[in-house]
Amino acid sequence: MPVLDKDKDKDRDIKKRIDSLRERIRHHEYLYFILDQPEISDLDFDKLMKQLKDLEAEHPELITPDSPTQRVGGKPREGFVKVPHSSPMLSLDNTYNEEELRAWDRRVHELSGLSQVDYVCELKLDGMSLALIYEDAKLARGITRGDGTIGEDVTLNVRTVRSVPLSISPDRLKKAGISPDFEVRGELLMPLAAFKKMNEERESKGLSTFANPRNATAGTVRQLESRITAERRLDYFSYMLLKNGRTFCDRHSKTLDALAAAGFKVNPHRKLVDSIDEAWDFIQQWEAKRDSLPYEIDGIVIKVDHTALQEELGFTGKAPRWAIAYKYAARAGITKLEDIRVQVGRTGKLTPVAMLAPVFIGGTTVRNATLHNMDEIERLGVKIGDWVQVERGGDVIPKIAKVIDDKDHPRPPELREFVMPDKCPVCGTKVVRTEGEVDYRCVNANCPAKLMGTILHFASRGVMNIDGMGDALVTQLTEKGLVKNVADIYSLSKKDLLGLERFAEKSAQNIIDEIDNSRKLPLERVIYGLGIRMVGERTAQFLAEHFGSMDDLEKASVEELQNVNEVGPRIAESIAEFFSNPANRKLVERLREAGLTLTGQKKQRGTKLAGKTFVLTGTLAHFTRDEAKKLIEDAGGKVTGSVSKKTDYVVAGADAGSKLDKAKELGVAVIDEEEMERLLGRGLNRHRGNREWVELSQR
Ligand code: IVH
Repeated sequence: MPVLDKDKDKDRDIKKRIDSLRERIRHHEYLYFILDQPEISDLDFDKLMKQLKDLEAEHPELITPDSPTQRVGGKPREGFVKVPHSSPMLSLDNTYNEEELRAWDRRVHELSGLSQVDYVCELKLDGMSLALIYEDAKLARGITRGDGTIGEDVTLNVRTVRSVPLSISPDRLKKAGISPDFEVRGELLMPLAAFKKMNEERESKGLSTFANPRNATAGTVRQLESRITAERRLDYFSYMLLKNGRTFCDRHSKTLDALAAAGFKVNPHRKLVDSIDEAWDFIQQWEAKRDSLPYEIDGIVIKVDHTALQEELGFTGKAPRWAIAYKYAARAGITKLEDIRVQVGRTGKLTPVAMLAPVFIGGTTVRNATLHNMDEIERLGVKIGDWVQVERGGDVIPKIAKVIDDKDHPRPPELREFVMPDKCPVCGTKVVRTEGEVDYRCVNANCPAKLMGTILHFASRGVMNIDGMGDALVTQLTEKGLVKNVADIYSLSKKDLLGLERFAEKSAQNIIDEIDNSRKLPLERVIYGLGIRMVGERTAQFLAEHFGSMDDLEKASVEELQNVNEVGPRIAESIAEFFSNPANRKLVERLREAGLTLTGQKKQRGTKLAGKTFVLTGTLAHFTRDEAKKLIEDAGGKVTGSVSKKTDYVVAGADAGSKLDKAKELGVAVIDEEEMERLLGRGLNRHRGNREWVELSQR
């Protein structure tokens, strides 16, 4: 069979040529996208790629998913599948000044009993965290952070990110010392140049632009068509390496080296230091240099280097004790206030919003900023036509810091005073400002703006988490009269959704599934979702813990309600008023019929500090503010923000300021942290010696 043999030889040859082309392309991709040190021209690179594509076109049977030609592929999807994380994707606690940072460092020393601790300093990249799962050395899944426990499978889009390796060669695995199944976590971001280009293109097409690179990244990775993701040039920096959800290198600095050895992009601007002084130097250096970077950072992350010490320090809530983010101050810009418009929220509150001449602040084009309320406008003394200083920082909605009137920005002669409209801009109903309240409200219970806001709130991630039920869908649902209140959501059918714009079989089913899942969420979410005035997430939690069921909450009198932690007369009134309305009781009844979770676990809080009100001030040495607050609340106490005659104790930490003066003036008891711990009936065992650490690190 000489002919067949010849064919086989030829096949083998072609396979060899394809393999060798792939190897060369991967090598040049690595030089270009990971190391940023290309050795050949773009033109030569494109030639190699074309040769491979041509060969693969002739021999489609030889195409493998990890071929460099296979980054973009597949049909547009209709949605994303939810997947659980191997271990929670945590966030970081923030600090904003040197004192807070040093307090954190002191705590690390005290909790560990060590006199010296190594830290790794890294840039805090302003994108979104993303987990990459590798199976058999090939990229199997890319998962967004989601709520930290469950994320979304965005694999097809992640594959288009050129700095994400599709496969890892055995050679690299060996160099990095890792087995073929592992997980990488890091930050996905959009470089500033790509961000600017994308926004310019969108603007020229009359499309809406993205506010900042972080939003653009999130929007891009959730594109249904990966072709679009591919065009947008995202980048990925890795900073965690896990096996079965756990870090396995004995030092974080080694993890970063292993990641680099495996062929992942690791941010080069990192430093291993042996003191907080050195970390502080790093922070200051990068604050001065941050504008020279081709992407945005919003601070520096300091991480304990030794894994064993990380494990010993553990976590509080959603953040590790072994790492801290130092956030840079908000960035500001000066621009012109062109107009003030009014937005109507779910409570009917009218919020004045500043319309600004577009201004580029820290990588973002800012076009509007909140002015909160009429008092704020008066406090600022701002008028339409003024020059204003706009500040933005991290997640915060941009705000107006002050009116500018200097020689470069003289106050224009023609200014217009803003007047709150006396009619709701959405429904035309009279606007009311209640005695003693700052806000103006539309009093029409059926105002479409309120309904829309209520539904959006109910469906949002922190409430009933109905993914996909955003602005576009809710607008259609309310306009078509399909949803007149939150209970109507549970009567929606697939057919209803198919009748709406941009819905197909699969996307309609996704929404129905999402709605279905929300039925399982706990009582406190439903309470929060009802949108009762003054009942936020925390109050809803306290109410659920206290009453244990919607039934009992519904029946509670104003007096009973005031027995709940942090519920005062005004909140109690608001809750009672809500349930006294027959329409609202009917609504709850329908939610019950729809199968929502309306019962929960009663939880008895401690009573040690019952009825006592605390104010925390200054920097505490052993707790963050949030930790101290939680301890006090768990013991039945209450923590408020300002000192008054009603305050029982002011807990003063280092550098306490005006609150301490106020306490002295009013004769309120001032205690230190240790006294607070005594009141709580706990003492900290924080004098462990070095021995334990030595043993831990040898494990
Ligand atoms: S470590 C448990 N390192 O910041 C440790 N996070 O505010 C979790 N981020 O969700 C993260 N740069 O998206 C880490 N060098 C860096 C980072 C970084 C940016 C993001 C990340 C995280 C968020 C927390």
